[in-house]
Amino acid sequence: MVDIKSESDIRKMRVAGKLAADVLTMIGEYVKSGISTGELDKICHDYIINQQKAIPAPLNYRGFPKSICTSVNHQVCHGIPSNEKILKDGDIVNIDVTVIKDGFHGDTSKMFLVGKSSILAERLCRVTRECMIEAINIVKPGLHIGDIGAVIEEHAHNNNFSVVRDYCGHGIGKNFHEMPQILHYGNRNTGMKLLQGMTFTIEPMINEGRYKTKVLNDGWTVVTQDRSLSAQWEHTVLVTKNGSEILTLRSDENI
Ligand code: MF3
Ligand code: CO
Ligand code: CO
Repeated sequence: MVDIKSESDIRKMRVAGKLAADVLTMIGEYVKSGISTGELDKICHDYIINQQKAIPAPLNYRGFPKSICTSVNHQVCHGIPSNEKILKDGDIVNIDVTVIKDGFHGDTSKMFLVGKSSILAERLCRVTRECMIEAINIVKPGLHIGDIGAVIEEHAHNNNFSVVRDYCGHGIGKNFHEMPQILHYGNRNTGMKLLQGMTFTIEPMINEGRYKTKVLNDGWTVVTQDRSLSAQWEHTVLVTKNGSEILTLRSDENI
């Protein structure tokens, strides 16, 4: 069942979304060569709990041990922050933040470039963001869900990148993950039609090499099988009367 949010639900989703966005804005200045992903987790955790009076949704979610996900280079998603994982010049890192406020979730992630990255890494991060934005821009009532995947896949393939198939976007609200699933590949005019009041994430994971992934022995960290670089961006969006509203938009962000 796909949940249609009421006006009061939407007001709470806006608050949760803004808080998640604020965490990404706050953490930016700390993402530098020499810091560990464990330290980034602690800063975000303390900020969410003490400043925002909110809850970091990943912590203890299905046994996940930390408050954010940090996925570096060939890590696709669900990277576990660790004091042993030190960022170095040229790394690319996705930080994925989900907060719960007043019972509702906001979920967003972005790529950070540590120091000077390669041209290829920069292009992968830029194209992945473009995939997310192109998909957000077509969202409106009546759109088939398959169209979202189709535009993402087309833009990735035009740039000789591949689309991760093992993980997808998701409905979000009182639950971290709810219906519908938002695949980042697919065919136009297929799947369910969007309705005003739906809220879901669009969070394409795009690989420099092949699309296949595997999970490391820690039970969480997803990596590319061929160890090629991977990037991801994520926003939580609301389907409005005529289009969409990005609930996790950062104040410094232009789309
Ligand atoms: N934030 C991720 C998503 O976009 C989910 C992380 S689940 C966790 O859906 F347990 F790894 F935190
Ligand atoms: Co998500
Ligand atoms: Co997320």
